[in-house]
Amino acid sequence: MRFLVTAGPTREPIDPVRYISNRSSGKMGYAVAEAALEAGHDVILISGQVNLAPPSNATLISVSTSDEMFDAVHQHADKCDVCVLCAAVADYKPAKVSPVKIKKLGENFSLELVPTRDILDSLGHQSDRRFLLVGFAAETNHVEENAAKKLREKNCDIIVANDVSSATSGIESDVNEVTILFRNGAPQKISRATKKIIARELLEIFSKIRNKNV
Ligand code: C5P
Repeated sequence: MRFLVTAGPTREPIDPVRYISNRSSGKMGYAVAEAALEAGHDVILISGQVNLAPPSNATLISVSTSDEMFDAVHQHADKCDVCVLCAAVADYKPAKVSPVKIKKLGENFSLELVPTRDILDSLGHQSDRRFLLVGFAAETNHVEENAAKKLREKNCDIIVANDVSSATSGIESDVNEVTILFRNGAPQKISRATKKIIARELLEIFSKIRNKNV
């Protein structure tokens, strides 16, 4: 099978030296890409800027902004069997990017932000979608409830939810703890384990469901 995996944060430029981003390390997405390669699949890894060595044998596409990630995903998704969108895409970007460094003026400063395009939502609502679509949901409260809402609204097949309120798992950490939500059927939990182990279990689940659907 061919997998498309997105990973890491996006960077939304403010001016030539500043940007808006988030704490995503890319570890979960890279672990999913590695698990897919280990299982003998082809992988296209579309990654924001991270401090991780790319898995050998993956086709790596490096991007910076949410718009670049959107375009790269749309260019490759249709030739894939499973798309796993792990990336922490910024929800907002500056309305305009200053071509020169913005000067410090010593007074309050506001930046107008506009919503970025939602990549997962755009794939979920593609009318002729043939690939299995998996999203991730990083939540700090009402984890399952919020993730179930995302599954419905973004029209994907699976949502992997994780609680990022804990300082010892989730964002930036090597360990995670996830709940997997499906369109039909009860949620499934994977208890605290390294992202590598969680990725292997996720891979088995994704492959099983993809094979059942074809
Ligand atoms: O709505 P929220 O950002 O919490 O949804 C998370 C899921 O949506 C993740 O799978 C993430 O990769 C995806 N997403 C996206 N494009 C965005 C925002 C989120 O693909 N602009």
